[in-house]
Amino acid sequence: MGALRECIQTPYNNHMPKEEKQTMTGDQLISLLLTLKEDLLLVIEKKDATSDELHVQIFGKDSEFTKLASSIRFVKKEDKQRVGIVLNEVKEFLERHINELSAHETGMENDTWIDVTAPGIRPPEGHLHIVTEAIEEITQTFKKLGFTRVRHPEVDWDWYAFEALNMPKNHPARDEWETFFITYPGAPDPKETKYTKIVLTPHTSNGQVREMEKGILPIRMINIAKCYRRQIDVSHAPMFHQFEGLYIDKEVSIGHLKGVMDYFAANFFGKDRKTRIRPFHFQFTEPSFEIDISCGICHGKARLPDGQGCKLCKEGWLELGGAGMVHPNVLRAGGIDPDQYNGFAFGWGVERTAMMKAGTQLNDVRTPYENDVRFLQQF
Ligand code: FA5
Repeated sequence: MGALRECIQTPYNNHMPKEEKQTMTGDQLISLLLTLKEDLLLVIEKKDATSDELHVQIFGKDSEFTKLASSIRFVKKEDKQRVGIVLNEVKEFLERHINELSAHETGMENDTWIDVTAPGIRPPEGHLHIVTEAIEEITQTFKKLGFTRVRHPEVDWDWYAFEALNMPKNHPARDEWETFFITYPGAPDPKETKYTKIVLTPHTSNGQVREMEKGILPIRMINIAKCYRRQIDVSHAPMFHQFEGLYIDKEVSIGHLKGVMDYFAANFFGKDRKTRIRPFHFQFTEPSFEIDISCGICHGKARLPDGQGCKLCKEGWLELGGAGMVHPNVLRAGGIDPDQYNGFAFGWGVERTAMMKAGTQLNDVRTPYENDVRFLQQF
């Protein structure tokens, strides 16, 4: 308090005789307040005391300011409002300077001022991953045809991934799936059970027999899951997604399969897109096909209007995935009588299907998994 007194040169009314105070005009009190304001500013700027100490010294019960402020009671009624306004302004002014000092002490001085009219900074906003979006869209498209999305294990007995699908043990076709096997203690004796090895499912076709085992007919399932293969290059990721359709009913034909393919192509890719089926071989379907979709750039013509060859497809068509009529042995493995029921199945890669959609022509199937936000935020 001593230092404060020393700094304040101007005599205030605190030592005035009471009679003098009582006759003080509003103007006089305002003038004293403004002088005190200037003097106290000098005190604050000297920084001889901390902001907390200054606050007590300047606004404490016995401070010059508090005493001077209390003189307002002697001012004439009509001057009170004017003096009150100045009193508040002086108080706010001094408080602001003490707060600035406080911010300086805590190293937060740059945060003191906020321009509430400045445009805000948008917080980063996430959205679904391109593959999740594709899964959702695929699900919704098949839902309209009455297919229900189901889930089956992504770590499963190799019986469901291979044997139940008409691929006996040691069959060379198994090699194509380049499977990850899981080792686990106490593997059962193959003579006692068909469930011996555990795999990271290399395709979603393991869901076919699992769905049949539910015993509910007809079947219209869409199984979308992660798949794993020992493959890695621009068109192969070790982890990817497939969607598997399975339709089992009475008197199902290849025409039904083609109709479903065309419906999907037109709804997912665009009205002008068509599919074609090419003969192929899978152990679990007979006959088997590769399904192609007409190229979205050249529309199946392989040539562009300027006569140049289409660089995307080369021959007018892009390969989507496999399909076929479910093999009778697979129906039997699932407990269904092939003389009464038949059906079709198809299995395609989600990443490749999403990439083929107009505007998402990626040249590396692994890109969606590199977690590069610059790439992901485009979709
Ligand atoms: C199969 O996996 C069969 N299960 C498909 C099927 C189901 C046929 C039902 C008949 C009936 P394939 O190995 O061709 O088939 O894989 C199908 C699709 O999965 C491919 O066309 C491709 O789009 C995608 N795919 C396969 N391997 C990878 C991989 N390593 N990375 C990304 N996508 C892949």
